[in-house]
Amino acid sequence: MFITFEGIEGTGKSTQITLLKKYLEEKGYEVLVTLEPGGSRIGKELRKILLNMESTDLTGESELFLYLADRAQHVSQMIKPAIDDGKIVISDRFADSTIVYQGYGRGLEPKLLRELNDVAVAGCWPDLTLLLDIEAAEGLRRATTRNIRDNKMMEEGRFEAESLEFHSRVREGYLTWAALNHERIKEVDASRDIEGVFEQIREIVEASL
Ligand code: TYD
Repeated sequence: MFITFEGIEGTGKSTQITLLKKYLEEKGYEVLVTLEPGGSRIGKELRKILLNMESTDLTGESELFLYLADRAQHVSQMIKPAIDDGKIVISDRFADSTIVYQGYGRGLEPKLLRELNDVAVAGCWPDLTLLLDIEAAEGLRRATTRNIRDNKMMEEGRFEAESLEFHSRVREGYLTWAALNHERIKEVDASRDIEGVFEQIREIVEASL
């Protein structure tokens, strides 16, 4: 089974992924947790380029192809082998991030992005996607606080440095895209406390195990 987590910055995806991994392992499943960008060796190199504040000269199209390259490598080297081994794979971001950030956020055509993603994922679309939803201003506030605390603003802050308007567009994009794919993408209210958010996730995952 393949589960992905999506949402704007600062929704608490990684905290919830840790809780879900533990929950599933206690039920006896083998779980692989991974992420994008940077889930493979090549992907780690691409992540540096993609998230560094110094990448101001990266064009929108190059950005798109680097995310797709990261994904193709990730699917073939990590995700597919783990699924074939019978593991549950949980990825922090995946193909929907491209459709929403490069599409609704940057203005590329979502339908074209869906087709390019088809090449990158090679048949490996998620079985279930959890969209952690929060107001853009609140998410950005949480993410920026975290980056400053972890001293990662320079290395990983390229998207956090985008305007509130960009993040609002991304949030709305996620909601639109989720409505178009409601069988696979399930919305979670991420403004609640950690337990309240996990309770919603647990119920959704239980229903699709
Ligand atoms: P990351 O540090 O993983 O963000 P977060 O902590 O919010 O999960 O950085 C990933 C950034 O890359 C994030 O801002 C969204 C962006 N992104 C895209 O624009 N397109 C993509 O296809 C992916 C996977 C990520």
